[in-house]
Parts: sequence; structure tokens; C-alpha cells
Amino acid sequence: MAQKNIGIIGVGAYLPEKVVTNFDFEKIIDTSDEWIRTRTGIEERRFATENQATSDLGAEAAKKALENAGISADEIDMIILATATPDYLVQNTACIIQELIGAKNAGAIDVNAACSGFVYGLALAKGMVASGINKKVLVIGAEVFSRIVDMEDRNTCVLFGDGAAAAIVTEVECGTGIISEFLGAEADKTGSLRTIAGGSKVPLTREALDKKENFIQMKGQDVFKFAVKALPKATLEALDKASMKASDIDMVIPHQANVRIIEAASKRLEIPIERFYLNLNKYGNTSSASIGIALFEAWEKGLIKKGDVIALTGFGAGLTYASVIIKWSY
Ligand code: ACO
Repeated sequence: MAQKNIGIIGVGAYLPEKVVTNFDFEKIIDTSDEWIRTRTGIEERRFATENQATSDLGAEAAKKALENAGISADEIDMIILATATPDYLVQNTACIIQELIGAKNAGAIDVNAACSGFVYGLALAKGMVASGINKKVLVIGAEVFSRIVDMEDRNTCVLFGDGAAAAIVTEVECGTGIISEFLGAEADKTGSLRTIAGGSKVPLTREALDKKENFIQMKGQDVFKFAVKALPKATLEALDKASMKASDIDMVIPHQANVRIIEAASKRLEIPIERFYLNLNKYGNTSSASIGIALFEAWEKGLIKKGDVIALTGFGAGLTYASVIIKWSY
């Protein structure tokens, strides 16, 4: 059987309208615009309104991706939603999005690989199409981290933002598409990035709430050390599988957590920083949405053209790290 070429035929993104600047945080916690900008590169982020959930953001991004791909929702036969902030713990959010966009012929699952989720989702989608299980897969990364961040904890609250992105994965023109993928994981035994309560290990009791264990907790420096190794490693592993070198990449779209992590990766990979697409100054860390949002922006600005080689690389809680190499199809 001839090998299928599988890639992306349309991308979309959605950012909530509410802008929260570093100066807004200066008014509520002991921080400064200068500290946040110089330590992270973030200047502002978007927060969902009170009545917007992850499904609402994901559905908007999905509609845009469908429009850009020129296909209707009923052509989608699988929805893979990457998220660490689902609408509910039980009842998957992908099903809610299926209803919101009218994708009545689609199966629907959530995957949680935190900030690597969008890349994991693309790789899973490729596998589903390659195996013949599905024809057109809608991959979404959507998050409302503002709901799981303690707005009094300066170590975390300034870093995250809300947003969503989507891509349609299907068969594409010969010689283009997702060339290779690397999916990595190692257990985070020390809780360097975790929301403790609300799962099966620590129920959401009054005591847990008093200890604020319903909010994300992070050991920033441990995550930083992991990230500066994981970003280059995942990219190199995927390049190796594609029999390519770092110099073959036209654009790296990394997870947008901290500009210093991306600068360190640029040095290790020996890829000039100008070839990394950055937008974390505007949106902060939107977890599983960040790579998709950056991909959509770069495409919309005309910075990505047919035949370009793009590396999408993420790292996040789990710990997870992942990369796909794509030869752009359109
Ligand atoms: N404003 C002012 N001061 C602050 C703030 C803030 N918002 N946050 C921390 N500080 C203080 C600390 O309390 C500390 O003070 P101290 O020296 O008196 O104790 C000081 O700044 C230095 O803190 P560090 O943690 O050493 O700062 P660092 O330079 O490591 O930067 C940061 C912290 C930005 C969190 C960095 O470690 C980082 O980016 N880590 C990676 C985080 C990340 O990528 N997380 C997401 C992963 S993806 C996912 O799955 C969700």
C-alpha cells in the first residue's frame, strides 16, 4: 500500500478579548512590569470572561480552522482536544466542542500532555489518518489557565494566559505534510508542575481548598532546567527521524513559556533566534494552545509558505516534551 502524505490543510486561533497587562498585576500583587518582562518576555496576556469555558474558546478556534481549510464541520470524523483545563473533570470537553461546532459525524477525545498537547495531538491525528481509522481530524489546543492559577501567587499568576488554536489534519499533496514526530515523557516525581487537588489522589476537600491545592503549583527553576534541555532534545530527535539537520528548518514554533528558554534552545540548536516565531509577549503561556496560536499567526502573516520546513516543539507538565517536523502543504 502506498504511504500516505498527511499534514495540515487549515489552521485557526481564538484569543479572548480581555487584555491583562503586567501593569494590571502591579496593582494586585508585589511584582513589576520590569521583573516580568526581563525574566519572561511577557508583556500582556488574555483572560477569558466569566462565562467563557475552554470549550467556548476551542470551538471558536475550530470554526476558524474549518473556514480556512474550506471544509464543513460534518466532514470531520474525529476531534482531538489537547487541554489541561477541561470544562469538567468527567464529561470530556471534546464532546462539548463537537456539539458547539456541529461536527455530528465526529468521534471526540481529550488528551492531556499539558503544554506539549498540541504537538501530541497532531502526531495522534497523523496516526489515525495513516491507519485509515479517520479521514479528517480536527486537532484543538484550548486552555483557560486563569481559572487554575492563584491570583495571589506571583510565581505563577503572571505567566499564564487563556486561548485556543486548531488545525485540520488529513491527506495532503505528495512530498508535503508531517514528516516526523518525537513524543517524549518522564515522570515528574517531585511535583515541579502540578495541580494537587481535584483528581483521584487528593479529593477536593475543604482542607485542600484552604491550602489552595486546587491551584497550579510550580517550582519554576526545576521546570526551567527541564525545558532548556527538552526543547532542543525533542527537536533534534524529530529531525533525526526525518534525516534532517537543524539548518534545514525554516521556522521553529516553540511552546511560548519564557523567552529565556527559547534563547537557550536557539543556542543549543545553533538556529538563529530570528528563525523562532515568538508571540509570548502578547499572550503569555497558553499551555496546549500556545504552539497552535503561534502557528496560526505566522501563517496568517504570510511567514509560512508551501514547502517550508517547520518544527513545532513543546514541553510541559507530566513531564512531557514533543516535536513534529512539517513540510508545509499550501
Ligand atoms: N514578580 C516579582 N518577583 C517575583 C515574581 C514576580 N512575578 N515571581 C517570582 N519572583 C521572585 C521570587 O520570589 C524570587 O525572590 P527571592 O530571591 O526573594 O526568593 C526571585 O523573584 C527570583 O525567583 P526565581 O524563581 O529564581 O526567578 P527565575 O529567574 O527562575 O524566573 C520563572 C522564574 C520565570 C518562573 C522561571 O523559572 C521560568 O520561566 N521557569 C519555567 C516555567 C515554565 O515554563 N512553566 C510552564 C511550563 S509549561 C506547562 O506545562 C504549564
